[in-house]
Amino acid sequence: MNRPDALDTPIHVLEKRRKAALAALGQGVLVLPAAPIQFASRDGERPYHPDRELFYLTGATELGTLAVLIGGAEPRLVMFVRERDAEAELWRGMRLGPEGAAERFRPDECHPLGELGARVPDLLRAADRIFYRLGRGDEIERHVMEALAHRRARGARTGTGPRAIVDPSEILDDLRLVKDAHELALLRRAAEVTVAGHRAAAAAIAAGEGEWSVEAALHSAFRTGGAGGPGYETIVGSGANACVLHYVENTSVIGQGALVLVDAGAEFGLYNGDVTRTYPAGGRFTGAARDVYDIVEAARRAAVAAVRPGTPIAGVHATATRVLVEGLVALGALQGRVDDLIASEAHKPFYPHQTAHWLGLDVHDPGDYARAGVSRALEPGMVLTVEPGLYFRPDHPATPDRLAGIGVRIEDDVAVTAAGCEVLTHELPTSSAEVEALVPSAKGR
Ligand code: GLY
Ligand code: MN
Ligand code: MN
Repeated sequence: MNRPDALDTPIHVLEKRRKAALAALGQGVLVLPAAPIQFASRDGERPYHPDRELFYLTGATELGTLAVLIGGAEPRLVMFVRERDAEAELWRGMRLGPEGAAERFRPDECHPLGELGARVPDLLRAADRIFYRLGRGDEIERHVMEALAHRRARGARTGTGPRAIVDPSEILDDLRLVKDAHELALLRRAAEVTVAGHRAAAAAIAAGEGEWSVEAALHSAFRTGGAGGPGYETIVGSGANACVLHYVENTSVIGQGALVLVDAGAEFGLYNGDVTRTYPAGGRFTGAARDVYDIVEAARRAAVAAVRPGTPIAGVHATATRVLVEGLVALGALQGRVDDLIASEAHKPFYPHQTAHWLGLDVHDPGDYARAGVSRALEPGMVLTVEPGLYFRPDHPATPDRLAGIGVRIEDDVAVTAAGCEVLTHELPTSSAEVEALVPSAKGR
């Protein structure tokens, strides 16, 4: 669990979001069920991952909740929740029940889940479109399909009823893309706990230690800091493991003088941090590793400086890419004119990923990056990562021997402000000298 207070969304915040969603709904109705339980094996459950869209609009995280947001002449939020049940609560903890949920989330109506079948069909049949994510195959999906069938069979008489099922992302992605003050506060907390985790990780890095011990130090600091845990699978990649972008095994022993790429973020109040630093075991960047590190850091700095209202998000990537390509030429990994190399994507073997993604309730938060082929311009309140890197896979034919096995990524979380941006993770240094100081020195051990 997250610290309980972190999951309490103030009613005025929820009301503002609901109002914005209702305005986008028109005569439609939005149906948001809670996430189902995921099973790991037999009856063993995975940690419960509350549905982010439901949480965003209602504040609810409880299994079995259903929200129906109704547009049109009588706009309102109708919620269904499980009834109190002493026997079930003995095993799984307290349920809010309809009264508790009504008080906590202030919907216009709140009913026991058992009344869903009696109430929902009429709500759906009154809409012109149903915003619902198809594919669950459960009771609520059957009601959605029946509302469509009812319109086909009977709607001609009344001229009413739904003709389309639309993915809720059409409305919710755009709302979630620009964070409100409450969300920014939680993202700052997620960043703060993430930074504490990275400091603990850096302090645990030494030749001969297991990558898993660094992971353990991170996760311990996340929980101690009040986070629910890691927001995604933690990457601790030493040596050439850093060149595998989603290396999550964390099973190698750290070698003498190896670089250790740590990509980890805390989830706080369901909001995420997403931070990468690359630390030198022994506390010194040396030789080619230092050259590569300084290039990636220069790319990070330039990309962060490009984050301001009006910059297309593709421009952040273009800024980082240019610095990286200039660096690749200086390192001798690429030959030719920088513009030509960028145009032909010659850097792809060494920089295969994008520089930025949206960040929020999801680590890769929803939201279109382009509209009709035009890159989205940044606006105040948007939150994104800036994460350039260079990876020299030992088995890649284009990798020069001198660079083989070096992998560096530096990732910060950034909120767009009216004046430019706020680096949410600025408390964790990025310059080579300051990063060296976070790691125990080989001499001091
Ligand atoms: N940790 C996943 C990412 O950086 O996008
Ligand atoms: Mn990351
Ligand atoms: Mn990221």
